[in-house]
Amino acid sequence: MVSPILDLAGVTLEVNHLPRGVRFYEQVLGLRLLHHSEEQGVAEFEVNAHQTLTLWKPITRQVNSSRLAPLRARGASHLHYAFQILPELLEACKGLLDAHGLEWTEINLGTEDRPDWTLYFYDPFGHGLELRGVDLTDERRPHFLPQPGKRPSHALPVFGLREIALGFGDYPAMLDRLPRAYGFAFAKEQDDRNFAQFTLGPHAEEDGNGTPRRWLYAWDPQVGLADMLGGDHVHARFYADVEAVAALIRAAGLPHLHDEQGLAVRDPEGHVFEFVAAN
Ligand SMILES: [Fe+2]
Repeated sequence: MVSPILDLAGVTLEVNHLPRGVRFYEQVLGLRLLHHSEEQGVAEFEVNAHQTLTLWKPITRQVNSSRLAPLRARGASHLHYAFQILPELLEACKGLLDAHGLEWTEINLGTEDRPDWTLYFYDPFGHGLELRGVDLTDERRPHFLPQPGKRPSHALPVFGLREIALGFGDYPAMLDRLPRAYGFAFAKEQDDRNFAQFTLGPHAEEDGNGTPRRWLYAWDPQVGLADMLGGDHVHARFYADVEAVAALIRAAGLPHLHDEQGLAVRDPEGHVFEFVAAN
């Protein structure tokens, strides 16, 4: 089956202090602030021309997005997610993290012969961030291949969102539902823990070795690498063939809304997925 999902467009994090979040994501990650409203409890950043990162502060008797209110969307709690960087800049990132006073952990996700070193650290809200080197000449390409751009010299040289890792209380139901109800391309499961990998593209692909592709990882409740947790009530946005996903959603009977901006669906586990056209 060809998956109607094309790429990762954005993710929303729940935070308890918006100015602290704006400071962190502007200064440490160098992201460009697009919109900041204390009244709405919303700050939105550009990661690149096709991807955004959004912070939502929950406020009593209020919603962060009136459009998504019927689906009771929230920003993700304790989300593990990854940014793309050039592998040759990984060493420099250690010094930048040190300069910001941030602790980091380095793990080799490759083999001894073909190492794939990765850095993990936390934002001020318990979201687990990762910096992963990508090979922009690899033939496994995402729908929107990002280009390294100019960042302030004190900021980490990130230029794309790579992966988001979501927690699911009912792992077997998730394994059935993600391909059937949304069309996500199941790539593989890990041998030693409940961890499924979905390629955010038309076909399942091999992960690792510098792929610039984007990924949806789905775990049961567990502490993963570098002590990081999968996100609960995650709000994520994907580029997709929206009509094709809408047909699957209707067949699955999931609560959703469909308007000129695209499709938004509430997953039974409380995640809210948006699907938007890729033009
Ligand atoms: Fe990761």
